[in-house]
Amino acid sequence: MSRRRPPGRSGPLNAHPTPADAAAALASSRQRTLALTDCLDEAELVAQHSPLMSPLVWDLAHVGNQEEIWLVREAGRLPALRPDLDHLYDAFRHPRADRTTLPLLPPDGARRYLSQVRERALEVLDAAVFDGDARAPSATSSGAHTPLLARGFVFGMVAQHEQQHAETMLATHQLRSGPAVLDAPPPPPARAEATALPHEVLVPGGPFTMGTDTDPWALDNERPAHAVDLAPFWLDTAPVSNAAYQEFVADDGYADPRWWSAQGWAHRQRAGLEAPLFWRRDGGAWLRRRFGRTEPVPPLEPVLHVCWYEADAYARWAGRRLPTEAEWEKAARHDPATGRSRRHPWGDVDPTPEHANLGQRHLRPAPVGSYPAGAAPCGARQLIGDVWEWTASDFLPYPGFTAFPYQEYSEVFFGPASKVLRGGAFGVGPVACRGTFRNWDFPIRRQIFAGFRTARDATPGEAP
Ligand code: AVJ
Ligand code: FE
Repeated sequence: MSRRRPPGRSGPLNAHPTPADAAAALASSRQRTLALTDCLDEAELVAQHSPLMSPLVWDLAHVGNQEEIWLVREAGRLPALRPDLDHLYDAFRHPRADRTTLPLLPPDGARRYLSQVRERALEVLDAAVFDGDARAPSATSSGAHTPLLARGFVFGMVAQHEQQHAETMLATHQLRSGPAVLDAPPPPPARAEATALPHEVLVPGGPFTMGTDTDPWALDNERPAHAVDLAPFWLDTAPVSNAAYQEFVADDGYADPRWWSAQGWAHRQRAGLEAPLFWRRDGGAWLRRRFGRTEPVPPLEPVLHVCWYEADAYARWAGRRLPTEAEWEKAARHDPATGRSRRHPWGDVDPTPEHANLGQRHLRPAPVGSYPAGAAPCGARQLIGDVWEWTASDFLPYPGFTAFPYQEYSEVFFGPASKVLRGGAFGVGPVACRGTFRNWDFPIRRQIFAGFRTARDATPGEAP
């Protein structure tokens, strides 16, 4: 893979969010945070539902504390409200499993803190001027008080942080035992049209622009834009379904070390993996538990709650491989007609319910092959929304990366211990999801809303 200078400017043509966009992003994020916590009583909010997760009341106040630190204090230069809380809600200071032992704010106190911080945040928004971009080469950051405020970046960053924690809190809900408390309408059912889709699509070889210099709310790890030249490859049209994954299980894929990497096999043995997390055998069939309800595994849904090692093993069993992160992004963004990279597979406009399953509107992925309006130019579907997709790639900085505004968001996680996930799941909000957005996690992680799709090299004869 060779890297060159970008062929041209990339990113959305309409790259200027307004204060109203920022207010809407903050409000919709908060609505979900409160919905995920108002549905449980005090005892459940302070409980440790899984050693893998924080008590929900920690996420709740942590979201407010980050908003206070970055939006109210750093960007707004307003006096601190509760500097005494910083150490309690610093994710690097306390492992998740220990957080119930801290003198945390009780649920009501946390809710009050969140609304006090939000009041100040909206004062900062009222005074903010949304122009300039101190990080762009052509910056004229005349009106911006700090680079944090340029084009409303800090509002986008804080809204994204809250949406990421809404997804983390949703994972806590999924791990929680006890009667169901969450409900949402199902996504649209499988369409007849989807059964006629080719199972894979060809992505022609050549360079494309990966990452962005211009997306106003892109985080540090999505920058800068750079050209990446790729060989042609075939990519699954949709994520791997439960039905397809069940064939791997039925073929004793979990018992055959041929399909697993050495590390993957060691982990499979140690952890006793036999099927995706939350699956349970019931005679000849498989059941799964979802947010407190048990149901037969839906064959047409993308598989969920598999770790990177399971995805990698499935791909090898299928005679294929995981796509690299660059391949995923080219499939999702490259428009061969113009040569530029889109913000989303369907174009630059924000996602609507016709494009993608995002924002916890439905509490499950849609059947494979859904969302024709969200298809990429190459024909791949559901690249955005439904399930996060494991890629083959380690989480590494792009050439020219600089940490902004803090090293603990991305930089400390760069390296071979983190695998990249792309695309966003039904659980993530639309502000924290786009064609350039990079998620990552350890290859053993299963409680996140992750699935995958597979790829293979195109042989010269099939490639145009
Ligand atoms: C980007 C999802 C890996 O949850 O660890 C939240 C997001 N960073 N608060 C995480 C994040 C700080 C992060 N991930
Ligand atoms: Fe956080």
